[in-house]
Amino acid sequence: MSKGLKIGLIILIIVVIVGIVGFIIARNFLPGNVGIDNNLTNEKGKEGNTTLDSSKVLVVYFSQSGNTGKLAKLISDRVGGDFVRIETVQTYPTEYNELADFAKNERDNNIKPELKNLDINIDNYDTIFIGYPIWWYQMPMPMYTFFDTYDFDGKTIVPFNTHEGSGNGGTYEDIKKLEPNSTVLEGLPIRVGDMTSDQSSKVDNWLKELGFNK
Ligand SMILES: Cc1cc2nc3c(=O)[nH]c(=O)nc-3n(C[C@H](O)[C@H](O)[C@H](O)COP(=O)(O)O)c2cc1C
Repeated sequence: MSKGLKIGLIILIIVVIVGIVGFIIARNFLPGNVGIDNNLTNEKGKEGNTTLDSSKVLVVYFSQSGNTGKLAKLISDRVGGDFVRIETVQTYPTEYNELADFAKNERDNNIKPELKNLDINIDNYDTIFIGYPIWWYQMPMPMYTFFDTYDFDGKTIVPFNTHEGSGNGGTYEDIKKLEPNSTVLEGLPIRVGDMTSDQSSKVDNWLKELGFNK
């Protein structure tokens, strides 16, 4: 083998290795990675620190990779009451591209996945904080199952969400349409990149604007 050919071969091998490593990093570590799960557990009857009667407050959330869960916990620790995670019977793929395809298929075909029993009696609550990530420009389909399952008539709904640029994606208006007999207050959308830093003051300001601060 000539020296030139050997050098060419080595360069080719390096290019291939760099390409493969780059591909693996891009698939697994770019924003939107869903590998991080959260270990939050449901909580009951917490004391709150707002004007709300915490015995009638529920914070409920759906979160696949932890961001919305983290935000939900922050809110729940302020408003007190019960803290409950929405989970589907069939778990979602953990690999990002597979999850993206799966969620898109659910959305495109209006598939509302079955939820695990949340062990809540919605009659016990007056104010329900409801959190979710934006998936394909709207609420994830489990949220539609959730709204179908419970009767929110006469309740106050306070939405919040995490996203990667879509804001609330029109979902607060969607909730108003789904629940015309409830009062839907102004929600809190937080960008996923911000969830790595402390969002307490944003939550505080939001609760203040809603008139819940003591
Ligand atoms: C399947 C899928 C679809 C998404 N679609 C959007 C979107 O349309 N707009 C957006 O801003 N972010 C989108 N995202 C980003 C998520 O909203 C964001 O990463 C969110 O914080 C994830 O919340 P979680 O960690 O609680 O699961 C999408 C993420 C996934 C996994």
